[in-house]
Amino acid sequence: MCGIVGYSGSRQAVEVLIDALKRLEYRGYDSAGIAVCGKELQVHKDKGEIAGLEETLPMLKGTVGISHTRWATCGRPSKNNAHPFVDCRGKFALVHNGIIENHIALRKELQARGHKFTSETDTEVLVHLLEENFKGDTHEALLESLKKVKGTYAVAVIRLGSKEVVAARKENPLVIGLGVGENFVASDVTALLNYTNNVLYMMDGESAVITPGSVKLFNESGGRVEREPTLVSWTVEDAEKGGFDHFMLKEIFEGPSAIHNTLLGNLNEIVTGDSIIDSNFSSVKIIACGSSYHAAMVGKYLIETISSIPTTLEFASEYRYSSGAKEMPLVILVSQSGETADTLAAAREARRRGCQTLAITNVVGSTITREVDEVFYTHAGPEICVAATKTYITQLMALYVLGMRIGHSHGALSHDALRLLRSELRSMPQYVREVLENAAAIEEATDMIVNARDVFFIGRNINYPTVLEGALKLKEISYIHAEGYAAGELKHGPLALLNPDMPVVAVCIRDHTYEKMLANLTEVAARDSPVLAIGYDDDTELSSVANRVIGIPKVKPIFTPVLIAVTLQLLAYYTARRKGCPIDKPRNLAKSVTVE
Ligand code: M6R
Repeated sequence: MCGIVGYSGSRQAVEVLIDALKRLEYRGYDSAGIAVCGKELQVHKDKGEIAGLEETLPMLKGTVGISHTRWATCGRPSKNNAHPFVDCRGKFALVHNGIIENHIALRKELQARGHKFTSETDTEVLVHLLEENFKGDTHEALLESLKKVKGTYAVAVIRLGSKEVVAARKENPLVIGLGVGENFVASDVTALLNYTNNVLYMMDGESAVITPGSVKLFNESGGRVEREPTLVSWTVEDAEKGGFDHFMLKEIFEGPSAIHNTLLGNLNEIVTGDSIIDSNFSSVKIIACGSSYHAAMVGKYLIETISSIPTTLEFASEYRYSSGAKEMPLVILVSQSGETADTLAAAREARRRGCQTLAITNVVGSTITREVDEVFYTHAGPEICVAATKTYITQLMALYVLGMRIGHSHGALSHDALRLLRSELRSMPQYVREVLENAAAIEEATDMIVNARDVFFIGRNINYPTVLEGALKLKEISYIHAEGYAAGELKHGPLALLNPDMPVVAVCIRDHTYEKMLANLTEVAARDSPVLAIGYDDDTELSSVANRVIGIPKVKPIFTPVLIAVTLQLLAYYTARRKGCPIDKPRNLAKSVTVE
């Protein structure tokens, strides 16, 4: 996820471009850049946040320009990889948000035709394509260039000597701001509210040409589109979180697009490309902390179910002090930030022991990426709230993809079985959307826990880690004591604690553990603990053992941890909100834990 702004008007563009860009910093903050059209194309970019860029900004004169704040996906954060990119002749500057999947092949072709590249990014191919396709009209050249591209984009371009900003979008947002004698384009309306609240939302496949006095909108085949502008009622303050009350809620609602981005590219590579996954190992060890550890636990079930390869788990903080036995597993390290000190130490220890290592992380260029043999990026975009939400479900996605790849390369998963799993994975964004549509019912269910001092979460098998994660979410943001338990363990001790003041949240999916879960719920009901059950939305039996039921779409049991995690994230969020807690920054916690 990155942020884009474009401006064409009568003010000095630099002021608008920097001010508007700052409101998009939530979309990425590892590097930033700006290009302004004056007598020549003036470009200034650097690694780091926008404030740093501003401090070193030279005088950029001109009334047309583009700017960009980056969240690295392809190519580590660096000055060279920062946008905008300029073609070999210095005529075009371009900014991009999205992923160009076929960039390696395109780069080779362009290099063979003499184009010189200055970055490691996928984006740079676009500006070179533009240079080749330009025959006097930037818009036509951009459309021609985009035809060659596989992937997703929101893109904005300026050309030396022109007042136009040309933009196009596919699966990444762009909105046009309409002013008087000036017009704008941005990734998000939040960037524009200081200047206008009269906007045109661009639809997928559309492109636009913006000048100080006109805005022309085009459909995919280049035909003109007329659309009534929308008057946005948000204020600048509302907009910082995109209209959501908290970053946490915003990030939960970004789940479908985050999943989509994780799968993009990675899903097709399950059976292609070089990977240590195809090497000769007879066991897997997954190492992580906190929520990432819970994702790792789901990963264990997945890998063992799909590939039959024995898989063990270890807390990163414990691994380095363990004996290490004589095993040589493939070691998978899971860390959203890629900066967690314990996980970094574990990565170093695993390599010292001679193991092959693979990291699942969300942050391109983070320290862990330099400590391992191979990296799987989740591409969930920046997560600001301390509590992990969209990054958790995208870690699960990464583990599904890796599990399938291990299963396939180790001969345990046939092509047909792989095809079926892949097709269900592709539908996950839609299933998560359905869970989000049920947010009001989940909010209502908080009646059952908001006044409790303690809450139990119970589940079995692949959803045992899910309830651990649900309990962690609730305790960290609402400060209610919550415990996750394997449902079968309840009668071995904790049952003594149950009473009418202790609600139990139970995950009860129709799989091979269903009957046992129903029996556990009967035991809970016998102690008068109120039961909030989460099960398939067509399950009519659950209401006979639970006081309230929240339904999820009927996916294969193996995929339920994603949908239930989102349900429990919303449950924790709405509970904490009712209690007036500081949700995005819970007390005593930090987003990345860089001490051991
Ligand atoms: O960045 P990491 O994934 O390595 O962080 C590990 C934990 O600190 C983290 O998952 C933490 O438990 C969550 N923020 C809790 O929501």
